[in-house]
Amino acid sequence: MEAIFDIPVKGTTHSVLHEVDWKNLPFGRYVSDHMFICQYKNGEWQDPQIKPFQNISVAPTMLALHYGQSVFEGMKAFRMKDGRINIFRIEKHHQRINASLDRMCMPPIPYELFATALQQLVSVDKDWVPEGEDVALYIRPLVFASEAKFGVKVSDEYTLIIMTGPVSTLYQKPIKVKVERHYIRAAKGGVGYAKCAGNYGGAFYATQKAREEGFDNVLWMDAFEHEYIEESGTMNLLFVIDEKLITPPLSDSILDGITRDSLLTIAKDLGIETEERKISISEIVKALDDGCSVEAFGAGTAAVVAPISVIGVDGELYHLPTYTNGSVMNKLKKALEAIRSGRTEDKYGWNCVV
Ligand SMILES: Cc1ncc(COP(=O)(O)O)c(C=O)c1O
Repeated sequence: MEAIFDIPVKGTTHSVLHEVDWKNLPFGRYVSDHMFICQYKNGEWQDPQIKPFQNISVAPTMLALHYGQSVFEGMKAFRMKDGRINIFRIEKHHQRINASLDRMCMPPIPYELFATALQQLVSVDKDWVPEGEDVALYIRPLVFASEAKFGVKVSDEYTLIIMTGPVSTLYQKPIKVKVERHYIRAAKGGVGYAKCAGNYGGAFYATQKAREEGFDNVLWMDAFEHEYIEESGTMNLLFVIDEKLITPPLSDSILDGITRDSLLTIAKDLGIETEERKISISEIVKALDDGCSVEAFGAGTAAVVAPISVIGVDGELYHLPTYTNGSVMNKLKKALEAIRSGRTEDKYGWNCVV
């Protein structure tokens, strides 16, 4: 994909690349040298720039801080086996950020601007893209209401910033999750499908409580019956029961995960039976009690796939078997990685080689 226009670049004179410990890339520790920044004013996006990553100054009255008009994305660029760099599924991330922006009364980002900014920024910081298994350059586009004004209103001004940083996968070992029966993440008609800041702030309380109880994360249930599985932390959820891949359907209360979509597409191609349907926690418990073969895992850009080892349900702990190389989860993960690294053909057109 060619860059449509040239964004002015001011290069850093103080690279911190040498500070990176490439063998240890905990999620979120490092930020690359440059960022993209652009302002929305008078009804249009203007003044796109790439410059050294730096603090920004904002007014205490800035609307995003008070009323929460803030939306973001989480994407990755991968070092391919031939050394080139691939930004994964730009189009789908672009559709999703615009869907989030629309829900929060924020202006859409033109595709050319989004795609060009990503490609140029990643090219400028190409040396920050790590090489190896389970590592990538995480990309964080962020849009927030930057108009300075008291008063509850839709902002007339916005800032788009894209920053990046090398990461390893979010979880290094299988996770323990707790079924959350009381607190909810999202309800029908709400903003659950948008990647807006408030969804994350609102999820912290129950997640912290679960962590204090020794879990890594919560399994969010539906807001009405507290029985049907929604998602977990920053991941969608997939289950395999007797070789059938089952995942909750898309709705306005879960994020349309790009990893979820990619794994479902690959699974169908591999001849694995898939079902997108409501799935209750009782169904999972019954399958485990009946001795069915069960896999449960989270899927997301940060985690890639996160095998679940324990599910806590109303005070009972349900242990899942260890995941072998032959598990459906591992087959899907390998197939996804093969596409992203260029080891197999990208027949879906997901890769954008920079
Ligand atoms: C709430 C939530 N659900 C699911 C996901 C997984 O989505 P994706 O695979 O696009 O990263 C994420 C991460 O972006 C998330 O924040």
